[in-house]
Amino acid sequence: MGKIKKVMLPVLVIHGPNLNMLGLREPELYGRTGLVEIDTQLVAMGRQSGLEVSCFQSNHEGAIVDKLQASLGKIDGMIINPAAYTHTSIAIRDAIAILSVPIIEVHLSNIHKREAFRHKSLMADVVTGQIVGLGVNGYYLALRALARILGTTDQP
Ligand code: DQA
Repeated sequence: MGKIKKVMLPVLVIHGPNLNMLGLREPELYGRTGLVEIDTQLVAMGRQSGLEVSCFQSNHEGAIVDKLQASLGKIDGMIINPAAYTHTSIAIRDAIAILSVPIIEVHLSNIHKREAFRHKSLMADVVTGQIVGLGVNGYYLALRALARILGTTDQP
C-alpha cells in the first residue's frame, strides 16, 4: 500500500534588503536570530500545518518585483517583510497588488514607535494584514494565520 500524499499548499516568504544581516544587524532592534534560522523554522512549521514554504531574500527592489510577478498563479499565500522598501517602493506595492492570495506584512520592530519615516507602509492597503513589533515571532504567527486562513490546519 502506498502512502497517501498530503496536499501541501505553496506559500512564499519574501525578505527585503538587509534582512540577510539579521543576527548581526542592530540586535537591540531586530534580535539575535539569523535569517537562516527563521527560514528553517518556517519551513518546519509549514510542514506541520500543510504549507510548503519557500523563502527568498533580496537587497534589490527589481529582484523582489520579479519574484512577485513570477509567483502569480503559483502560490496560495505570502508573507513579506519589504524592510526599507516598505516605506519607499511603489513598484513593490504595485506588484503585490497583482496577487490575489492572502498576504501578511511582517516587521520585526514596531515601525510606529520609530522614526516618522517608518510610520507609513506603502503596502498597508494592498496586504491582508500586518504584524509589527513582535520580533521573529511575527513571522511564525503570520504562518499560523495563513494556515488558518487557507484551512490547512485545525490548530488555532
Ligand atoms: C523592518 C522595519 C523597516 O523600517 C526597516 O527598514 C527594516 C526592517 C522590520 O522588520 O522591523 O529593514 O522592516
